[in-house]
Amino acid sequence: MAGVRRGVFITFEGVEGSGKTTQAQGLVDWLSEHNLPHLFVREPGSTAVSEMIREILLNPENKTMNPKCEVLLFLAARSQLTYEKLLPALHKKQIIVSDRFADSTYAYQTYARDLPQRLIAIFNRFATAGIKPDLTLLFDIDVTEARKRGIFDDRMECEEEDYHRKVREGYLKLAHRAKKRVKILDAAKPVEILKREVINNVKNLLVRKGYTL
Ligand SMILES: Nc1ncnc2c1ncn2[C@@H]1O[C@H](COP(=O)(O)OP(=O)(O)O)[C@@H](O)[C@H]1O
Ligand SMILES: [Mg+2]
Repeated sequence: MAGVRRGVFITFEGVEGSGKTTQAQGLVDWLSEHNLPHLFVREPGSTAVSEMIREILLNPENKTMNPKCEVLLFLAARSQLTYEKLLPALHKKQIIVSDRFADSTYAYQTYARDLPQRLIAIFNRFATAGIKPDLTLLFDIDVTEARKRGIFDDRMECEEEDYHRKVREGYLKLAHRAKKRVKILDAAKPVEILKREVINNVKNLLVRKGYTL
């Protein structure tokens, strides 16, 4: 840890059912096994205030929520998480594993709901003190395939398949714009294969950042 200047920030992105939570948990297990200091969070959520905002956002009864209200609530939850947990973790040289972050806002709200991209990017910087992931793992999969994997019943998951297809398209567009940061993984592969790919990507990053493994 002697060569490490600040923590590392890794995010997991992708459509519902793509395997983000499974793989984020797998990475956290690996970090624990290797005694690497880390913090596991999910978005929206992971602070008392952010979890309350999550309940509002994901409650399927909130059918009347307009897209602007939605994006501002996501940003509010993110801001609380950033100042309460992420900035202190980076300061303490921890490895942050986040199940979703700002790229979700781009894909789900800006791209798929057609909100103004530049304005939301400015709001996002305001909400997050401008912190950016060092590495983003994008779990890419056909939306119909992903939906076969489980029960999808929260407010975002209840959106029609076309919406989720647009979300996937938004993520891929973003990945092509940010090739260095965003690694696309084929999320249709088996869990164990993907876990190895996740760990290899993370190992490369940690070595570059001065961690000794
Ligand atoms: N690579 C995979 N192949 C097949 N099923 C998977 C894979 N990864 C996860 N799953 C299963 O698919 C479901 C959704 O996975 P999850 O990790 O919750 O996705 P997400 O967090 O992206 O919505 C879970 O039941 C999980 O066990
Ligand atoms: Mg999940």
